[in-house]
Amino acid sequence: MTERQREMTEKFAPTDVVIAKRDGHELTDDQIDWVVDAYTRGVVAPEQMSALAMAILLNGMNRRETARWTAAMIATGERMDFSSLSRPTADKHSTGGVGDKITLPLAPLVAACGVAVPQLSGRGLGHTGGTLDKLEAIPGWRAALSNDEIMTQLEDLGAVICAAGSGLAPADKKLYALRDVTGTVEAIPLIASSIMSKKIAEGTGALVLDVKVGSGAFMKNERDARELAETMVALGTDAGVRTVALLTDMSVPLGLTAGNALEVRESVEVLAGGGPADVVELTVALAREMLAGAGVTDVDPAEALADGRAMDAWKAMIRAQDGDPDAPLPTARETEVVTADADGVLTSLDAYAVGVAAWRLGAGRSRPGESVQAGAGVELHAKPGDTVRAGQPLLTLHTDTPERFERAHQALEGGWSIGETAAETTPLVIDRIG
Ligand code: URA
Repeated sequence: MTERQREMTEKFAPTDVVIAKRDGHELTDDQIDWVVDAYTRGVVAPEQMSALAMAILLNGMNRRETARWTAAMIATGERMDFSSLSRPTADKHSTGGVGDKITLPLAPLVAACGVAVPQLSGRGLGHTGGTLDKLEAIPGWRAALSNDEIMTQLEDLGAVICAAGSGLAPADKKLYALRDVTGTVEAIPLIASSIMSKKIAEGTGALVLDVKVGSGAFMKNERDARELAETMVALGTDAGVRTVALLTDMSVPLGLTAGNALEVRESVEVLAGGGPADVVELTVALAREMLAGAGVTDVDPAEALADGRAMDAWKAMIRAQDGDPDAPLPTARETEVVTADADGVLTSLDAYAVGVAAWRLGAGRSRPGESVQAGAGVELHAKPGDTVRAGQPLLTLHTDTPERFERAHQALEGGWSIGETAAETTPLVIDRIG
């Protein structure tokens, strides 16, 4: 069949769908089903899908269109089914932030409370870290598991954190890569359908969304974050997944570390009953929501964290994926310290600046497939509200490649300030939606 004949057998012409959205019309269910599928098959060209993504960014999609788009993306791949497990399932998704290592203590904590957690995760791109990159800092740990291994580990241990296979919503993989290079990542219906297509296809029974707000997040203001959260909660609920969202602050990094091995170390401190208060607070708040979504209301996750049950589940989970939870974590070859330039109170420490610095030090990647440095990142010695003295260390920068220090220092310029009195702090959990 010639290219022309093949085009004639297609239900729509790609440009008609682009023009409909460009002119502010609603797309029909048939148009959406076709365009998502045809793009995945390679019939709709990348330049045509780019134009459509931009038209969606500018003109939006309503709830029906977004739900249909999500369903069309799910239909391009496989769906997992955990209904044969002996315990209920719950998962968490964070929209991404700086120092956001919560998945690491959270998955074993929830498993220790009797609910199975199928965390199919991704790698970091840009200034936000990826869960798999963090766990790969643990000697021997393996991200790739077969579907059978996932099921066995969930049944036996209750928690799996592994790479999401390419079989789940392949349309999203292709579309996300295109959005990344066409300035169309920020379209709320496209973010919501991208996240939710993968989570619904994954087959979790309950889902808790951690929607980040602030400089270190995708959503810089509360209005957009709220709209994203409401859109995702509606998509999950309509698809039969018990879904709630917490809006949480990402103007300051979470905890005291950003970078792969540094964040694993901090997560282990939390699992050992210590660790920074904000990481503990968010881990327990998300665990409560996951347990409630799975129908478990008689177990207190704070106790399971404090008494070592979550740590036991962590060690078992890491060992099951060939990691050694007791092996020393890698450290960077070089460090440099940033010191306070005055006496006073640290009034701000910008999450985005710290995220970019960690990324430039080698903790993240600029292109898919690049390798990351396990030991690279930023360690914080003070958080906003803390009293500091001139000359005191504020941050330690870690890298294997000292030529990276200069650009990390540049990223941090203007990223923190010292004043006379503490600024008002935003609560960590801003709101709950669902
Ligand atoms: N994460 C996703 O998986 N998709 C988006 O579009 C944005 C963040």
